[in-house]
Amino acid sequence: MNNLRYLITFLLFAFVLVSCRSRKKGEISTLKKVDPKVWVDEHTQSNADSVQVKHLHLDVTVDMDHKQIYGSALWTINNNHKQKELVLDTYDLTIDSVQVDGKMVGYNMDAPIRYLGNALRIPILENSTFVTIFYKTGAKARALQWLEPQQTHDKKFPFLYTQSESIYARSWIPCPDGPGIRFTYTARVTVPKGLMALMSAENTDVVNDTGIYHFRMTQPIPAYLMALAVGDITFKGIDDRTGVYAERGMIEKARWEFENVGIMVGSAEQLYGNYRWGRYDVLVLPPGFPIGGMENPRLTFLTPSVIAGDRSLVSLVAHELAHSWSGNLVTNATWNDFWLNEGFTNYFERRIMEQLMGENYSDMLWELGYQDLENTVIHLGPKHRDTWLKLDLKGRDPDDGLNDIPYEKGCHFLKMIEIAAGRDRFDRFLMKYFDANAFKTITTETFLNFMDTGLIKNDTILRKKLNIDEWVYGPGIPKNCPRAGNELFGKVDAERKKFLTGTQPEALLFVHWSAHEWLHFLRGMPDTITIAQMKLLDNAFKFSVTGNSEIADMWYLLSIRNNYTAAYPAMEKFLSTIGRRKFLEPLYSEMMRKPATEEMAKRIYNKYRLNYHPLAQESLDRIVLKTNSI
Ligand code: BES
Ligand code: ZN
Repeated sequence: MNNLRYLITFLLFAFVLVSCRSRKKGEISTLKKVDPKVWVDEHTQSNADSVQVKHLHLDVTVDMDHKQIYGSALWTINNNHKQKELVLDTYDLTIDSVQVDGKMVGYNMDAPIRYLGNALRIPILENSTFVTIFYKTGAKARALQWLEPQQTHDKKFPFLYTQSESIYARSWIPCPDGPGIRFTYTARVTVPKGLMALMSAENTDVVNDTGIYHFRMTQPIPAYLMALAVGDITFKGIDDRTGVYAERGMIEKARWEFENVGIMVGSAEQLYGNYRWGRYDVLVLPPGFPIGGMENPRLTFLTPSVIAGDRSLVSLVAHELAHSWSGNLVTNATWNDFWLNEGFTNYFERRIMEQLMGENYSDMLWELGYQDLENTVIHLGPKHRDTWLKLDLKGRDPDDGLNDIPYEKGCHFLKMIEIAAGRDRFDRFLMKYFDANAFKTITTETFLNFMDTGLIKNDTILRKKLNIDEWVYGPGIPKNCPRAGNELFGKVDAERKKFLTGTQPEALLFVHWSAHEWLHFLRGMPDTITIAQMKLLDNAFKFSVTGNSEIADMWYLLSIRNNYTAAYPAMEKFLSTIGRRKFLEPLYSEMMRKPATEEMAKRIYNKYRLNYHPLAQESLDRIVLKTNSI
């Protein structure tokens, strides 16, 4: 038996070797030859793809004082493949007991695997239907951020929110935690009286006086879209299907900023078909939220740093909204296919912004994105494996492989196809793609096959033009990568040049510049400029005290680089109030690059570390404290 296994392994190995060697340029890659419908998700230990997991009923209490969620997760299953056990993912959960069809059973918890957590093994029979796990969360729950009143905007009540993507749902629910496994859910959540609870589901818009909230999500979603927030939250409608949730003291500003979200949903629908999730609301979180936004179905979670006071950063909402199609409706089967979620969404986001603001505006987004792509490739190296669209995250936390490649290389790939095929033809194809794959999880290869039969067909000239293999299974930026015309940025470049050759800032032609033009103005500064020049800019344009987080972030980067110490107090304030890793990581990294600012980085980090989300702490610990906490 063993010998046979060795022989098969050897033959397989030899086959792969031969087929790799004999691969000529332009031939389809070996990776593409695997059955696109069969995939291995390296980041879940669950077997729920073979035991059909259909529905979750969650009945939990949120204990704000002890920073713990406890209760039960009741899974409805269909064991028609006659598995002997149901394996679920858990991370730092304490399991109190397990019942199958109402009867207590013995169960096993495997030893923990670093970021994957412990597999929970529950014995089941052929006709088992209900599996209930009684559990509580641990202190190291990576999805949860428990905020003291002091860490919220209003500073009066505690706050809790979850961030389940990519593989953190398992740290607050025992679940099959892979994007390729979908289920519907209902929930009963008990919270301290007076606080509101919200989920990625049908929500209430008023605080009730029992502290018990009921939720229902009737469309199947993967575990990474499970979400919960609890706090002193209030609601203001935008139109009859959109609205804003935020802390009381934030709601007016937030409502104003998101005035056009209702129109945005309509605009997205015009592009790729009906919005299928009923309501679209957004929730503005306290400042510690580690990312810009999270596309939790029906209820996008947002950083407050998007509220610039002038609606200049709402493309972030367009992005999260676009995920209602790309990601939530058609989902990447594994984290190696992450570009299917984020590349499509970036493309879709820019199409929405083009419809709302015009082509000149969306061209700025495209150009800034191209710059991000270029910088990421330079940073990683042009041959780096992480610059392929199809990732290989085996043996790694998907969070570690997170960079701009899936986003920017992904959306530029789609833009290139749009240009080659023609916009109308490509749009018709995408509409079909979302429709045919709605509520499904797909691999990169399924998409490529779908495109082959649905778009390229017999058009060999088009196929050749696209150069798909180089994009998907190759590194760097392919030669046919499009770059947007940049009429507006051309003007910005000219003004920057004038400044660098001695023109006073006040004499520059900057009236009506948007946040993106300012961002480009700063990004294009040479590696070093003088402190006197920094001062001139600051006096004229008040960059150190800007309310726009993107501009502030870029300005503080320049300040560290050029030893412009006058901006440091404002930067410290920024670092104390913001939780977004996109801003924190570059700033701390830049400070750590030279002795003069290294000490400052450590001092500031130690002071505000606990304000940051556990995941932000993990990556910043590595940058500032040079430790590895996981
Ligand atoms: N789904 C992502 C957030 C995410 C990705 C969380 C991977 C955890 C792991 C979300 O849609 C996103 O992309 N957010 C961006 C904003 C966007 C405008 C690029 C962010 O948070 O910066
Ligand atoms: Zn996204």
